[in-house]
Amino acid sequence: MQTFASTISKVFYGTLIHSVSIKEIEYILQGLLFIDNKGKIAKIVKNVSQDQLDAALEGVSSDKLVRLTGDQFVIPGFVDTHIHAPQYAFCGNGHDLPLLEWLDTYTFPAESRFADKDYARRLYNKSVARSLRNGTTSACWYATIHLEACKELVQVIQDQGQRAYVGKVNMNQNSPDFLIETTESSVRDTRAFIEYVNDVNSKIDHKPLVTPIITPRFAISCTSDLLSQLGKLAEEYQLPIQSHLCENMNEIGFTMSLFPESVNYTAVYADHGLLNDRTVMAHCVHMKDEELDLVKEKGAGISHCANSNFNLKSGIANVRKMLNKEIKVGLGTDVAGGYTPSILEALRASRTASVALDMETSLVVAELFYLATVGGARVMGLEDTIGNFEVGKEFDAILVNASSDNSPVDIHDHDTVETSFEKYLFVGDDRNHEKIFVQGKEVRIPGAASRK
Ligand code: GUN
Ligand code: FE
Repeated sequence: MQTFASTISKVFYGTLIHSVSIKEIEYILQGLLFIDNKGKIAKIVKNVSQDQLDAALEGVSSDKLVRLTGDQFVIPGFVDTHIHAPQYAFCGNGHDLPLLEWLDTYTFPAESRFADKDYARRLYNKSVARSLRNGTTSACWYATIHLEACKELVQVIQDQGQRAYVGKVNMNQNSPDFLIETTESSVRDTRAFIEYVNDVNSKIDHKPLVTPIITPRFAISCTSDLLSQLGKLAEEYQLPIQSHLCENMNEIGFTMSLFPESVNYTAVYADHGLLNDRTVMAHCVHMKDEELDLVKEKGAGISHCANSNFNLKSGIANVRKMLNKEIKVGLGTDVAGGYTPSILEALRASRTASVALDMETSLVVAELFYLATVGGARVMGLEDTIGNFEVGKEFDAILVNASSDNSPVDIHDHDTVETSFEKYLFVGDDRNHEKIFVQGKEVRIPGAASRK
């Protein structure tokens, strides 16, 4: 007979911190968290004293036990609901221009280099490693229009062990000659990409971590015909969808001139079968109330990209209003509109943005941590799989040490677990990330060939 102990691959003993609701962070002290052979959370026991530890382990051998010490704690991995893998090449540069000029001047030339798949592999290795090291265990990636480079990104993500949605970008109009497709090649390559990921997934021995996502860059760069065909592909394969929405006033004006039949920008996506409960819309800075209501009605989620919205002077998204309407919201780094692939930084920018918009209703720590974890999981439709430490969910987590070597955080005698954690959120960085886990397995970064 299979015993409980024989199904367990790892047990953590110590401080566990996670969101139990948008209002509440739970601090579990002397917690025991059991992970099973499939990477799922099998059991959590709270307040286990040293004396009780042996009995509480229920026969699990001590070599599977990880004892957290001092200022170590385990938190759920972060979810980055919007990031452009190729744009890591110019991360930190080019914030002198607004969106449309920024795309023409920096972004499109940088993305055109991904016609070279060797360059793509090199750059993507760095991009994904940096994201993982920053604690992003799940990400919604944009690649480029290039099929072969998209496959490289999937390989890199598989090798490094991140959970991810990967989008082959679609662009068939209003794009430079060096970065444009025909309608036919765009649809054909998207289908080929989906089939490729499905084939890769059929050959692995664990539950797949990588999912293709339908990715019209934004309405400006896709004809109505292409948008419709992508809507049909999403329906046929029941895939998630991502795009950009209401980021910048000039973008909105141009979009409405291209799609006069739609009542507003949000409706452009809805009218082409691209707005449903599997959709992730980035930015949503300048949304009319009826557009937010349409997002809510369709069950779509919003990726809040505060860092990018500051850098490109796009504006400030009203997250409080979105939350009041009970719209799903997560955080996005939007590299390289955002200057860093760090969800900790996205969380900080989100707080600053909310204070700048309205001090009275600004976002509080519990809300920010929720958005970075559970909120993102909901936006990706993964709320039953990841986001916090509930029994039955998969274990995606960060082992944080608030007092690691070279830690940017200083912990003093007077600190409590709450104040230490808050310091990590606002002062910490990847130097505090001692280990990263996805689906119960430690991720080896950078450059590791396979998951342990
Ligand atoms: N809208 C269309 N493409 C992009 C992009 O690459 N980044 C951002 N921030 N907005 C976009
Ligand atoms: Fe973006």
